[in-house]
Amino acid sequence: MGRTIAIIGGTGKEGRGIALRWANAGHEVIVGSRDGQRAAEKAAELSSLGHGTIRGSDNASAVRAAEVALLSVPYGAHGDTLRGLRQELQDRVLIDITVPLAPPKVRTVHLPKGRAAALEAQEVLGPGAKVVAALHHVSSAHLADPEHAIDCDVLACSDDPAALELALSLIGDLGLSGYDAGPLANAVALESLTPVLLHLNKRYKGRGAGLRLTGI
Ligand SMILES: NC(=O)c1ccc[n+]([C@@H]2O[C@H](COP(=O)([O-])OP(=O)(O)OC[C@H]3O[C@@H](n4cnc5c(N)ncnc54)[C@H](OP(=O)(O)O)[C@@H]3O)[C@@H](O)[C@H]2O)c1
Repeated sequence: MGRTIAIIGGTGKEGRGIALRWANAGHEVIVGSRDGQRAAEKAAELSSLGHGTIRGSDNASAVRAAEVALLSVPYGAHGDTLRGLRQELQDRVLIDITVPLAPPKVRTVHLPKGRAAALEAQEVLGPGAKVVAALHHVSSAHLADPEHAIDCDVLACSDDPAALELALSLIGDLGLSGYDAGPLANAVALESLTPVLLHLNKRYKGRGAGLRLTGI
């Protein structure tokens, strides 16, 4: 079933490939931005690639029009963005892909004050929003081309079983296999693994190191 999905910060690197892949899978995608004009231009550019129709609007309008939202902004903008969209995100499933990196030390694990960005998101939004943490280990380099098969599994966690099931199905529509990784508290582990992958990229000259599960 096609869903209407808003991508908050969808004008960026990670949002691009996610928007193209979901549009390709038949979802109605709304690219969100702080600037509605920038969103409209990005949406027109992505639509012209022929993977489906993608709309653009300011972040608040995008979330209001959608049933599911994906948050794709740098950690430095995470708290303010969520506080600004608190009302719009009530009764929504929010897939939070944020990794709480602390530049310039992006290859060292950084636990934020609330232990994980996704836990901070749930705290800011309250129980009315259903937060799912996912996609921290899939590089924009892999997502960008919708025809490119991605050799990476996805771990997703949430305290809301229905929201998690929906997110896992949407992760499947990105061309990835998503796995239930437990309660939202486990976002601490998921988010912490990304700096390790960034270290591996540097150490072994990789381009988008990812995860593959075995034994299940
Ligand atoms: N890149 C990856 O490979 C990757 C992989 C896994 C997870 N992630 C996570 O995905 C999220 C997005 O990553 P990205 O690489 O796509 O980031 P990005 O391209 O640097 O930024 C994404 C969007 O965030 C918005 N933004 C930037 N600064 C902002 C601010 N101060 N306040 C509000 N919005 C702001 C911008 O949209 P507007 O200016 O249009 O509002 C921008 O286009 C991050 O949390 C990252 O940790 C990234």
